[in-house]
Amino acid sequence: MTIREIRKLPDPVLRRKAHKITEFNKDLQTLIDDMIETMRAAPGVGLAAPQVGESLRLVVVEYGDDEDENIPLKLYVLINPEITHVSEETEEGVEACLSVVGLVGKVERYSALIIKAVNRHGKPQRVKATGWLARIFQHEIDHLDGILYTDRATKVWSPSPEEEATIKD
Ligand code: NI
Repeated sequence: MTIREIRKLPDPVLRRKAHKITEFNKDLQTLIDDMIETMRAAPGVGLAAPQVGESLRLVVVEYGDDEDENIPLKLYVLINPEITHVSEETEEGVEACLSVVGLVGKVERYSALIIKAVNRHGKPQRVKATGWLARIFQHEIDHLDGILYTDRATKVWSPSPEEEATIKD
């Protein structure tokens, strides 16, 4: 596995609408493994393929639980993800992004959602998420449409050292 370079603004790949994946070949498996390693090394809780320069509809997320840090991390590999259901309820939270250096922002997101996707072998999967995990998925899926959290933020600022420790993806 290889750690890939994380693309940062103003790299145009971050603004492109990514392509649907139709072939589940060896190159794709390598890309997925490299993205997992790159996300862990950053460190981050999520990474979308355009962030490593590949304009493909693929995200990886690794996250545990909002309430209980003893719950082990869970790894998600979502290919061609589509949000099929969202909650009426929304919540505000502070986000950062590995591709947007030196900033954080307050973003309103759906509190819960259901995603339809396929796994690394093309098998259909359905994922339900709430809270911070739901936020991470919304942030990552936005990357596939060239949308950055700063586009949705009600406020963007340069964080203090404590805020710097907030989750990045
Ligand atoms: Ni991001």
